[in-house]
Amino acid sequence: MRPPRHFIDLATFDPAQLRALLDEAHRRKAARIGATKGAKDADAPLIGHTLAMIFQKNSTRTRVSFDIGMRQLGGDTIVLNASDTQLGRGETIEDTARVLSRMVDAVMIRANAHQDVLDFAAASSVPVINGLTDLSHPCQIIADLMTIEERLGDVKGKKIAWVGDGNNVCASFIHVAGKLGFDLAIAAPKGYLPRTQDVQAAEAEGARVSVSQKPEAAVDGADVVVTDCWVSMGDTDKDERMAAFPPYQVTQALMNRAARNAVFLHCLPAHRDEEVTTEVIDGPQSAIFDEAENRIHAQKAVLLWCLGF
Ligand code: CP
Ligand code: NVA
Repeated sequence: MRPPRHFIDLATFDPAQLRALLDEAHRRKAARIGATKGAKDADAPLIGHTLAMIFQKNSTRTRVSFDIGMRQLGGDTIVLNASDTQLGRGETIEDTARVLSRMVDAVMIRANAHQDVLDFAAASSVPVINGLTDLSHPCQIIADLMTIEERLGDVKGKKIAWVGDGNNVCASFIHVAGKLGFDLAIAAPKGYLPRTQDVQAAEAEGARVSVSQKPEAAVDGADVVVTDCWVSMGDTDKDERMAAFPPYQVTQALMNRAARNAVFLHCLPAHRDEEVTTEVIDGPQSAIFDEAENRIHAQKAVLLWCLGF
């Protein structure tokens, strides 16, 4: 039997695979213009397939976009809040993976610890999708790249400025920078920098990634400005973070340093007037709701790739 195709990190993808995922997401989005949101795609390729979604952390976009995306593809979903399952009473990740592999065709997991997703995938005979961990959020970045391409065309040669926490979402941007050929300028406070191994691995494949404590320099001339919350799910050092991050707030003055047609992105949920001002997030450069919608189209491309379509 062929090993399952897991979608765990974009670091393992090659440029052609990324291109194919993005093309499929754009194509599926375009093919639905005028359709109601619950209507199935004309080909409904996933009829007879079920996706289980396990959540160890809260979610709005990931949960709904996978659910709606799966329905549009003709498939079904089951949502499992981890604490309501036997996982919450100590059943092992591996046994859970083996059992679900007998019952569903793919599993999406939002996990506290990245290792749990790796352990689940190692024991699973069906594809496993990383729906966010402490270390990465690859599904989000497919949607972000789609949004950038819709607004600005090919991401190759563009400058993306990441301002704020060098967190899980930032890591997934780092994972694709070299493969897709964009410049990534990260401004993050000391103590909240991206992981060195992610930056070094990206640089080894030719990525141009800079890391500094200078939001202005990162944003100068940028085509895309991205931020995320200052306190991610699972972070326990809220007070220290709230003290460290205010100089990294994305304001209109900061946006004015970017290219004239620069786009603002945020994976959401946002904390308005913390990491970004209301003026920016609700302003004309903000593409956050296209970005959120694109989660649906991105998930569909990921599901089809995992299931071999
Ligand atoms: N951006 C994102 O993953 O949102 P949710 O936490 O609502 O799923
Ligand atoms: N960095 C955030 C992203 C939420 C979608 C978190 O992990 O909570």
